Amino acid sequence: MLIEYIVGLSGLIAAGLFIYGLKAMSSPVTAVSGIVTAGYGMVFVVGATFLNLFNISPDARPHLLVNVALAVVALLLGCLWTGWRGRTVQMTAMPQMVAIFNGMGGGSAASLAAVSLLSDHATSGLHLSVTIVGALIGCISFTGSIIAWAKLDGRMRKPVRFGGQRIFNAALFLIALVLGALTVMQYATPQGVLPGILFFAAALLFGVCMTLPIGGADMPVVISLYNAFTGLAVGLEGYVMGNPALMIAGMVVGSAGTLLTALMAKAMNRSLTNVLFSNFGDTASSAKGPEGEMKSADPSDAATSMRYASSVIIVPGYGLAVAQAQQKLYEFVKMLVADGVDVKFAIHPVAGRMPGHMNVLLAEAGVPYDMICDMDDINDSFATTDVALIIGANDVVNPEALTDKSSPIYGMPILNAYKARQVFVIKRGSGTGYSGVQNPLFFQKNCTMVFGDAQAVLSKMVEAVKALGTA
Ligand code: TAP
Repeated sequence: MLIEYIVGLSGLIAAGLFIYGLKAMSSPVTAVSGIVTAGYGMVFVVGATFLNLFNISPDARPHLLVNVALAVVALLLGCLWTGWRGRTVQMTAMPQMVAIFNGMGGGSAASLAAVSLLSDHATSGLHLSVTIVGALIGCISFTGSIIAWAKLDGRMRKPVRFGGQRIFNAALFLIALVLGALTVMQYATPQGVLPGILFFAAALLFGVCMTLPIGGADMPVVISLYNAFTGLAVGLEGYVMGNPALMIAGMVVGSAGTLLTALMAKAMNRSLTNVLFSNFGDTASSAKGPEGEMKSADPSDAATSMRYASSVIIVPGYGLAVAQAQQKLYEFVKMLVADGVDVKFAIHPVAGRMPGHMNVLLAEAGVPYDMICDMDDINDSFATTDVALIIGANDVVNPEALTDKSSPIYGMPILNAYKARQVFVIKRGSGTGYSGVQNPLFFQKNCTMVFGDAQAVLSKMVEAVKALGTA
């Protein structure tokens, strides 16, 4: 009775800590403390899960596969591995690390389901059905996340596509469902574990097949979706195991993942179906681009213009992360600020390739938070700003999203950089962005390209401002 009470209370405390942690994560100032708080929540969940083992009635014990020593070994290995990876991972490799950690969560939920089935633990049809649904979702999240990791880590460079793939995937999903139903039915009259084994195999294979055709650049949204899946699967298995802490943790993770997925899709003005099935960015590059020519200038000319401007808004994008030029950029910004220029950073919610990508990049360089503005807060300021400096960003400043209904990015909110008096764009060539469409802003009269790798261009700009001396 006491144990039951403590386990339930731990779940409640964990839920409180998770919700508080998630709230704190929404601002860069409090994000680190938010992550630590949510980590404490997880300690409560793990503690409650171990404690819950003592809550199993002696009658049920012989039927359950419980091995505390093995669980402790798994816990230690997991803590050591994730602790080491978390400390050593490069910032640019964060998305793939999140993918693989998330996959482990899905795999754990599926393993719980398998243990529950093998333990003869189910008490009712409902119980069994929940076990199977949790297993299905957990398996998809497990293998899907592994493919997402392989893509983001550059181990799988091209999406795998073939004719009739959607029909094949739909058939595979149906087979998994039928095998799941068979497993539930066979449980009532046990005739061996074959349907269960085939069910797990089909569910694991479906996770692979569902993720193979999706392009690498769409992986952040897919990881977020799998994150929601993992949470849901863990929550369902928490119900199966009678563990409220696990149930609450799973549901909080599941709802946070669902919200993040929806927010990312909304910020790109794309539906989830479009992300999962559209082969986005593959074909649009052949579309006819805007008329006219791009003007270009030397880095030193661009730097001089900014040195004598009174206000500059910087729009960082994916190319800044590729070039790892954030430190050089901040060195340049500090020189402008010292010369009396008002400098701000404008962040688009889906700039880069993962949520908060640009915030993390700028924080890494030590850019103060009060210089960093969200899109809605700064968009009106472009029209009264002397210079907009776009670095390795493309889609997030493409005005076609506002005007061209046939564009794949039509409807996506953009940063209004095109309204600034003068626009400078640092990028390597005339290539398109992630969506594959050309950007008419680059052909505008007030726009000048500064071609080159962002790191090299910014180094030259720093030298140019140094050569001018202080005001
Ligand atoms: P993009 O539209 O992808 O444009 C990046 C630009 O950076 C490219 O045009 C490229 O041009 C340039 N570039 C690449 N390497 C560079 C380097 N070393 N130095 C200088 N420039 C370099 O990026 P964005 O404007 O940040 O937009 C993000 C896109 O990703 C959006 O379409 C968004 O929907 C999508 N997306 C975002 C997320 C999240 S959560 N952030 C998730 C999935 C998809 P060159 O090749 O000519 O250099």
